[in-house]
Amino acid sequence: MSIPLHILILAAGQGKRMHSKTPKVLHLILFRPMIHYVLDLARSTANQSLSLIVGHDSDGVREACGDYPEVQYFEQTKPLGTAHAVLGARDFLSAQKGNVLILSGDVILLGQATLKALVTTHLETRSACTLLTAHYSDPQGYGRILRQEDGTVRAIREDVDCSDTERKIAEVNAGIYCFALTDLLCSLARVTNTNRQAEYYLTDAVCALLSDKKSVHAITVEDPRDTQGINDRHDLLRVESILQKRVNHQLVDQGVTIREIHTTFIDPRCVIDPDVEIEGACTLINSVIKSGVKIESHSRIMNSMIGSGTVIKQGSHIEKSEIGDRCRVGPYARLRPGTVLKTDVTIGNFVELKESVMGSHSKASHLSYIGDAEVGQSVNLGCGFVTCNFDGTSKHKTTIEDNVFVGSDSQTVAPVTIGKGSYIASGTTVTDNVPEESLVLGRVRQITKPGYAKKYRRKEGR
Ligand code: UD1
Ligand code: CA
Repeated sequence: MSIPLHILILAAGQGKRMHSKTPKVLHLILFRPMIHYVLDLARSTANQSLSLIVGHDSDGVREACGDYPEVQYFEQTKPLGTAHAVLGARDFLSAQKGNVLILSGDVILLGQATLKALVTTHLETRSACTLLTAHYSDPQGYGRILRQEDGTVRAIREDVDCSDTERKIAEVNAGIYCFALTDLLCSLARVTNTNRQAEYYLTDAVCALLSDKKSVHAITVEDPRDTQGINDRHDLLRVESILQKRVNHQLVDQGVTIREIHTTFIDPRCVIDPDVEIEGACTLINSVIKSGVKIESHSRIMNSMIGSGTVIKQGSHIEKSEIGDRCRVGPYARLRPGTVLKTDVTIGNFVELKESVMGSHSKASHLSYIGDAEVGQSVNLGCGFVTCNFDGTSKHKTTIEDNVFVGSDSQTVAPVTIGKGSYIASGTTVTDNVPEESLVLGRVRQITKPGYAKKYRRKEGR
């Protein structure tokens, strides 16, 4: 029978060094609250329970973690330190058996393999505590690992409590631990707050175990970047940049061309096929991009699906949209939520769509607004076409059936339907339903007065 493993994530701190109203663990890294990365990591490790210690803006944190229904929450009413945070779950933990893996809400780059190695070593060695360490060229801010001459861990000393000699130690505590539950609970009871920050340190629980001659193991990570914590916005940018490179390089390995690795930000949730080409300064959030798509520079694609062979031209902004195969979008197009483009659709420069469907082979090539509309197949919407969908109170629907031609500078005043095969002359305002195969002319007849220009200029004294 496997030994039960409980997971506890510490996320109650305000993150004072962020200087923010938002709790630290909700700050975004590649478009996701940092706590989501830790929760994903926790999920990837077989566990018997997953708990989050919350405190500062606990309602906000709970709400942001709504997609993780298996999480149980424990409140730490005052942020009195990491040991105090763990005590928030004392009653629950006391009723459990086995071991607890403690993760920190601000250490997000750890890999599954590292956690697995930590847990496996802990279980195999039957240690009271096994913790992760890393070697940093600049260890400032981290707790240092003090070792005996024989190499075993002697103590963990917080940066502010270190002597000058101790401060030079490059090996740091990553803040990730596996504890035997009984040992953890006994040692927590002995932690005091007699230190420079007057906090109850979880690291002192480790020291208490050491003074009881309990076995404490330390595993050093291969890549120190994995354990980088996020205390201020410099750390946040540093960690984001590491993740950004990892995501981009992995995609490049899989056959995606990313022309500018440093200016392209791709959310790790994106699914991008091989043979996709992405130019510089693009942002892709939680989207699916099919093979052969080309995304030109300065485009932003959010929560969308882009079909094979489609070209997203420069500077396009796409949100909650579904784009079919072989479409052309942009430059400078805006597809707002609810846009659906079927196959081989053209959406040109300065065209905005919202809650609208464009049928296959249809085009809106220039300067249009298409809102709450259902546009059929092979429809041509001329330059400057506008669906007047809002009467000041409610939105109304425009239906344009297959093979309709709408001349430039026309409008439809919704609700209205244009029957298939109809022609709408340029400059027409369509206010009434149009039967199939009709020609609609809705503009003022032209008046031409030959020679009148000269007379007019004279009258104006020009
Ligand atoms: C902690 C460790 C330090 C280690 C570093 C690694 C302690 C005392 N120090 O320091 O040895 O090198 O992590 O990143 O543990 N939290 C609470 N309640 C609190 C305080 C903190 O829930 O009262 C949570 C925070 O929200 C955060 C995590 O615990 O997610 C770590 O707290 P933080 O204040 O960032 O600790 P560090 O100073 O980084
Ligand atoms: Ca930290």
